[in-house]
Amino acid sequence: MYMICANDVPIGFFTILRYCSIMSLKFLFLGEITGRAGIAALKNGLKELKADLGVDFTIANAEGTTNGFGLGKAHSAQLMKLGVDLLTGGEKLYYKVDLVEFLPRCPYILRPANYPQGAPGRPFKTVEVKGRRVAIADMISSSGFDRISPMNPFAQAPHLVGHLKEDADIVLLQFHSGTTAECATMGHFLDGQVAAVIGTHSKVLTADAMILPKGTAFISDNGRCGSTLSVGGFAAANELRKFITAVPERSHEAWEEVELQGALVTVNEDTGLAESIEAIRRPVKVERPVAKEAVQ
Ligand SMILES: [Fe+2]
Repeated sequence: MYMICANDVPIGFFTILRYCSIMSLKFLFLGEITGRAGIAALKNGLKELKADLGVDFTIANAEGTTNGFGLGKAHSAQLMKLGVDLLTGGEKLYYKVDLVEFLPRCPYILRPANYPQGAPGRPFKTVEVKGRRVAIADMISSSGFDRISPMNPFAQAPHLVGHLKEDADIVLLQFHSGTTAECATMGHFLDGQVAAVIGTHSKVLTADAMILPKGTAFISDNGRCGSTLSVGGFAAANELRKFITAVPERSHEAWEEVELQGALVTVNEDTGLAESIEAIRRPVKVERPVAKEAVQ
């Protein structure tokens, strides 16, 4: 499609460019936002990244935004102001009490659809993007989350996707997966049924982004927004001591080598399936805040 545009530059370039630009929609799935370094990365880099990539809609895993563990209500509003359109979460979504109270009336945060029916929050949302109805759903894997006991996502997904397709041209799934194996299985399970199955949770950007045989974009994990010179966005020294001593201690946010990571999915608006998927790594300069004791 882009080759055709380039070759036709002298004749009706802008008409053809417009034609090309409305043929596809670009969705950016940001990896888990990890603490203040992650927020700072969005503050300093998201606007430029979206412009560079031509993003139409941005989805982010936000369950680690507040100190790495959960999402406070105020932080959720801040992320929307910084340019995210929809937030998702998994096993850490209910860690902050004010968010749990806010979720029943919050229009921009998704909880896993395979949680029990009484769980607070919405499991999916349908929005309009460039004139197309786009449904985004969140699910969590069976593996890796023993304390939550979610319903089997493979039993739930066909009903969920069928329901979403009644009202949407394009369906996207954020799959909060405790293992890459289950995420890949879900990708193949829904291949051709949804435009994308984007894994998240491990905070490690995987090298398996691909278009599956029937047109679904897939990646096991879309990484993190935060420090990459760290253990999952946290300072390595503290995490190391936990393993050496077995004594629990607080994790501390790391501020070195901060990146915006994620996956960019291009969807054909006619077929509702993916044309491309690309893993994204964008280094962003951020400043570590001065500690309170150092100011005094
Ligand atoms: Fe998680």
